[in-house]
Amino acid sequence: MSVHIGAQPGDIVERVLLPGDPMRAKWIAETYLKDPVCYTQVRGMLGYTGTWRGVPVSVQGTGMGMPSASIYTHELINEYGVRSVIRIGSCGAIIDSLKLGDVVAAIGSATDSNMNRVRFDGLIDYAPVADFGLLRTAAEVAEGRGVPMRVGPILAADAFYSDRPDLYGRLADYGVLAVEMESAAIYTTAARYGARALTILTVSDHITREERMTPAEREQGFDNMVQIGLDTAIA
Ligand code: ADE
Repeated sequence: MSVHIGAQPGDIVERVLLPGDPMRAKWIAETYLKDPVCYTQVRGMLGYTGTWRGVPVSVQGTGMGMPSASIYTHELINEYGVRSVIRIGSCGAIIDSLKLGDVVAAIGSATDSNMNRVRFDGLIDYAPVADFGLLRTAAEVAEGRGVPMRVGPILAADAFYSDRPDLYGRLADYGVLAVEMESAAIYTTAARYGARALTILTVSDHITREERMTPAEREQGFDNMVQIGLDTAIA
């Protein structure tokens, strides 16, 4: 087992969905995968392997925020040979034209995290981006399913409760679609170790309109996102 994942070699397959919430990992495994097996419960951060349309897929919770997400991404790639990671989660919309339940794919991830500033001695503003092949596949899958999926840049923020909400408006001026809290670390870690990464999100709230999805709306919205993620993972 690795430091934070209690799995044996071979328990985790090369394509992994990464929800932030470990209970969502359990729900995805039990709802969508055939014969799911829980391979880790360390720190309550559940991980499962099962099959989707006959192809083995793993689902691993990452926790909230970039330090946590980078730990799981690092160990999956370096200790278990994972080649593709697809984050699925929720986001707060920044731009007006997004509405609750919309599905977003992050082509790139701006961030206020210090992790990449440390990596590059503060000399370079590294641009964390999605794997083009995964993004293209996800766009095709979404189109095939008739699900409109907005592709664009997002913000990966360190703080959920921001003291600078004015910055969201400024980011919207630059076409940034939404905010979440993990994608930049996942994209950077995957790039560093030669793996592929993508982030697909469902809009659960709107930052400026102060709207929030109901539980029923969340379920339907998440269903589209999860199935796009699974089909993309096995393509
Ligand atoms: N994830 C879902 N909604 C969010 C928000 N408003 N800020 C950061 N992450 C989020």
